[in-house]
Amino acid sequence: MRGTDATRTAVELLRRAAAIAREGRDPLPRLAAWLRTVPLPEEVEAARPEAMRRARGLPIAALEGGPVLGLRWFPPGAPTDVHDHDGGWGVARVLEGRDRYETWARSADGSLRRVSVRELGPGDVVAFDAATLHVQEGLDAGALELVLLERLPARYAGEVEVLR
Ligand SMILES: [Fe+2]
Repeated sequence: MRGTDATRTAVELLRRAAAIAREGRDPLPRLAAWLRTVPLPEEVEAARPEAMRRARGLPIAALEGGPVLGLRWFPPGAPTDVHDHDGGWGVARVLEGRDRYETWARSADGSLRRVSVRELGPGDVVAFDAATLHVQEGLDAGALELVLLERLPARYAGEVEVLR
């Protein structure tokens, strides 16, 4: 018998994440602590080759109304733009390799400034709220991350079946 933490599939993981997010205010610390050790659902290994061929994220599964689970490969020497995720929170766990995670903020005059820099390795987790701009870049041979987002970014619409 499986308990409430069973996450054999991506959808089970997403249902558990949605429940954790609903438990109270400021869900990011709870989601980050949980995602750090949650067993990887079976779809992750299957999606890995395609994720590593892409220069963008690969959505794996999405619940209607969120959240969404995906993989993202960060090659070395190719930093992302300064970005957010369509006004939603996110939590990411490094599965393989190393990368740099920077947070950025927009100043009153509209210019962007870097606020923090952190280097991540396997098992490290970062969480960002809706307002936190960030940049990521693979280090060494690059990094593969498991990414949980509050909602499916508009640019990935149609790339994954949205489940009820
Ligand atoms: Fe991001």
